[in-house]
Amino acid sequence: MTTASTTASEAAAPADAPVPLAAGEIRRVGVVGCGVMGAGLAEVCARAGRDVLLVSSGEAGLARGRGRLERSLGNAVRKGGISDAEREEALARVTYATDLGAFHDRQLVLEAVPEHEATKLRVFRTLDEVVEAPDAILATNTSALPVIRLARATRRPGQVLGLHFFNPAPVLPLVEVVGSLLTDEGARRTAADFVTQVLGKQAIHAGDRSGFVVNALLIPYLVAAIRMYEAGYADARDIDKAMTLGCSHPMGPLALADLIGLDTVAAIARALYEEFREPAHAVSPMLSRMVDGGLLGRKSGQGFYTY
Ligand code: CAA
Repeated sequence: MTTASTTASEAAAPADAPVPLAAGEIRRVGVVGCGVMGAGLAEVCARAGRDVLLVSSGEAGLARGRGRLERSLGNAVRKGGISDAEREEALARVTYATDLGAFHDRQLVLEAVPEHEATKLRVFRTLDEVVEAPDAILATNTSALPVIRLARATRRPGQVLGLHFFNPAPVLPLVEVVGSLLTDEGARRTAADFVTQVLGKQAIHAGDRSGFVVNALLIPYLVAAIRMYEAGYADARDIDKAMTLGCSHPMGPLALADLIGLDTVAAIARALYEEFREPAHAVSPMLSRMVDGGLLGRKSGQGFYTY
């Protein structure tokens, strides 16, 4: 049987693969996207002492990202055991820009733009043009799109892989490390070491299949809960109560869908459906209409609950 790690290592390393960086040598990190995940990734790297450059396409996005970072670091002081001084130091390590050209000196870039393939492909094409070091690692936080397609948008597919964090990134310890068939083994090892040794997270290795491990299991569950709500089996609070009290989950499925963002849940479900053609991944009419209506969960103020 083929395992995730043999899937990744089966890829032939190109003869001209750069000598991989050691994880501790990665000091300059770029994050693309100022949404919930982008801001979270910037926070995680800044708290690990890295110089972080956060890029969004516009000033409004940057202001939102900065606000998210400040709020979350405030939570970290209250809940996560960091001091006010550590919060200030982390904030000072993050700089902001609206142009990806600012990434020319980055050693690791984490892409966290919305789950639209065309947008991600555009970002990877640009990163390939602007990031100068051949040993820099270009990572996507995609939940469900094929990593290999993003890799092929660059002239350095060996340096491209998935690093999939979980929301809220500063709190949840897991990162899925996803090598594509073209990922250089050295780059994959460096990225995994960065996750564990520098960021202090736990890594699992997953093959380049839509949903990797977590979302392949989680999304059918969330979609089923939404269908259950839509069919009127039970109201939202009771569905969530069932899973928090009955199975000791920290959040029920509808509250979790609101946290992830209903647009993201729908995008991942569609990508899974595209890959596997399983009815369990089909987006229900209610989820579709909520996304069309801008009812996206926490980030828009209204989803299955009001925020
Ligand atoms: N640093 C920064 N923020 C912290 C923190 C820390 N060390 N510790 C807590 N916080 C934040 C919490 O995130 C929470 O933020 P909000 O106010 O925005 O909700 C706030 O401080 C309050 O924290 P509490 O400890 O009071 O909250 P809690 O005990 O209810 O924990 C939670 C909140 C961590 C979100 C918890 O409910 C939880 O783990 N829920 C499950 C989340 C989950 O399953 N996420 C995975 C989603 S799937 C995904 O992300 C992948 C994908 O591709 C879709």
